[in-house]
Amino acid sequence: MSDVLTGTTTGVVRYRGWNEVPAQFRPPAPPRHFVGRDAELEKIRAGGVTVLSGPAGVGKTALALKWLRDRGSGDGLYVDLAAPEVLGRVLRAFRLDGVPADERAAVFRSLVVRRQLTLLLDNADSAEQVTPLLPASGTVLVTSRKKLDLERAHEMDVEPLTDTERLKDLLDLSYVELPERQARLYRLCAWESGAFGVPHAAAIAGEPECDVEDALDDLVEKSLLTEVGDDAFRFHELVRAHARTKR
Ligand SMILES: Nc1ncnc2c1ncn2[C@@H]1O[C@H](COP(=O)(O)OP(=O)(O)O)[C@@H](O)[C@H]1O
Ligand SMILES: [Mg+2]
Repeated sequence: MSDVLTGTTTGVVRYRGWNEVPAQFRPPAPPRHFVGRDAELEKIRAGGVTVLSGPAGVGKTALALKWLRDRGSGDGLYVDLAAPEVLGRVLRAFRLDGVPADERAAVFRSLVVRRQLTLLLDNADSAEQVTPLLPASGTVLVTSRKKLDLERAHEMDVEPLTDTERLKDLLDLSYVELPERQARLYRLCAWESGAFGVPHAAAIAGEPECDVEDALDDLVEKSLLTEVGDDAFRFHELVRAHARTKR
């Protein structure tokens, strides 16, 4: 296959049917233990430009990659704008060689539109750097440490993960390591709104009191349950909410 990608002033750039996004420009996988960011993931819109801005290390790239993996469509193209000569390298990787420097942005935009690539422009430094690369249509995510004030873009501040999100992550880690009896008690007793004792927990679980007592002590040791007074137990509200999400 050999068809015209775009006309340039110096000639015609041919697109030689390179079917896959070259490996070095495919979006990497998001962090394996990605947590939180539900609200942010909801807000990123398909079919538009979203700028994720926030300080270094806050989680902009991870958020963008997670969105691409879970909610993006089609092929993704990952461009690290902090890397030197990146536009030329992207085009060459797609076998678009010899594009003059002043035409690279236009050829890049055609490539993205034509292939319906979902674009992640990571580490943008300015609106001037990004604007020439924005395709006429399609989904674009941009990350930057700065506010870019891009036209026609949806700007989103990425804040540090909240304590609640971190806690949920920690609780998940503790929960998956619980032995079956403890895990079951954790799920069942979370439906008690107040404090409860061993006999009550044993009745809910349908298990002998001595086993239930040991299991509850284990939950206390793992900071999933609080002992309040003599043989009475209670969940912290956030922990209880977490336990109730488990089936
Ligand atoms: N929601 C998250 N869940 C788990 N790990 C995260 C999350 N957000 C960021 N991280 C981790 O924190 C580190 C910094 O995140 P990163 O996305 O690279 O920050 P930024 O792009 O804002 O500089 C990375 O190691 C990343 O994997
Ligand atoms: Mg980043």
